[in-house]
Amino acid sequence: MKEIKILGIETSCDETSAAVVINGRQVISNVVSTQIEIHKKYGGVVPEIASRKHVELIIPVIKEALEEAKLSLEEIDAFSVTCGPGLVGALLVGVSAAKALSYVYNKPLIPVNHIEGHISANYIEYKELEPPFICLVASGGHSHIINVMDYNSLDIIGQTRDDAAGEAYDKIARTLGLGYPGGPIVDTYAKSGNMNAIHFPRSKFNDNKYDFSFSGVKTSVINYINRCKQKGDELNTNDICASFQKAVVDVLVDNVICACKDYNISKVALAGGVAANSFLREQLKEKAQDNRIEFYYPRLNLCTDNAAMIASAGYYGYLKKRFANTELNAIPNLKIGQKII
Ligand code: KG4
Ligand code: ZN
Repeated sequence: MKEIKILGIETSCDETSAAVVINGRQVISNVVSTQIEIHKKYGGVVPEIASRKHVELIIPVIKEALEEAKLSLEEIDAFSVTCGPGLVGALLVGVSAAKALSYVYNKPLIPVNHIEGHISANYIEYKELEPPFICLVASGGHSHIINVMDYNSLDIIGQTRDDAAGEAYDKIARTLGLGYPGGPIVDTYAKSGNMNAIHFPRSKFNDNKYDFSFSGVKTSVINYINRCKQKGDELNTNDICASFQKAVVDVLVDNVICACKDYNISKVALAGGVAANSFLREQLKEKAQDNRIEFYYPRLNLCTDNAAMIASAGYYGYLKKRFANTELNAIPNLKIGQKII
């Protein structure tokens, strides 16, 4: 089989990343330059600053990815890039770079949906993994349960009706004054807390039992914190983090296991930044085992934003000849399964 070497580019939020992946599974290089330190002092990503940083970093990051791969641009077979969803100014930097490379080197350009990229991180981690499987994608902007029927065929069976899981983590951390991004910090505090100390609500919907809502639990935690402050009670940060985390993870795990059973699919995968959460990984592993479901989860640096996952997803677009031309644009609100070209 001919080796297809794809250079992937990711700039949808606050990570500038480029990677070279062979046949969608073998990572030769994966350079990620994070802007977290810059955005930390604002308590979240400032879109205008993110775009400017991407402009500064994109060429050095691509060069480093090629150097690490010991390849020249002439040796790359195709370029894949995140074209949405994400911050429009940030996305445009990656899209422009990929379009220029594809035009100059006369190689195919493959647009990739960022969420489909997150799912593909599992193909890198597990060389034998093939669809169909159910994937729980939870990140700063998304919380979805997806039936991955085939590499290029995804069906959303559940999603959040308001906040994403990662967004709730970030908001709770900010309210507690713990810093940004909140997910890893809350995860750490929760390890020393009692997850049964405070009961926070879990949302369920009758019209779609796989859907989520995290704004209720978020508001409930914020109200609890404010009440404690008003009464002059000392805040137990560890217990609050552990109890909040339990409320979020309980629903994520319950809904995804329920989907596997109802759809009669015995493989479940995790994806997205929140997939790095230690309690979510532990709980889903346990519940999957109880239900004889095979559990797949990418290593930590493949859960958060990176270009290797974009190159992997790009490979499956390459096989289907889903190529774009220089008219490709950033699509900030791109939906899963939405036609790009
Ligand atoms: O996928 P990602 O890197 O960017 C988006 O596409 O949104 O996800 C970032 C999100 C942030 O909300 C961050 O707080 C959350 O993932 N996150 C975590 C953990 N690590 C990152 N949430 C919970 N626990 C973690 N360990
Ligand atoms: Zn992401």
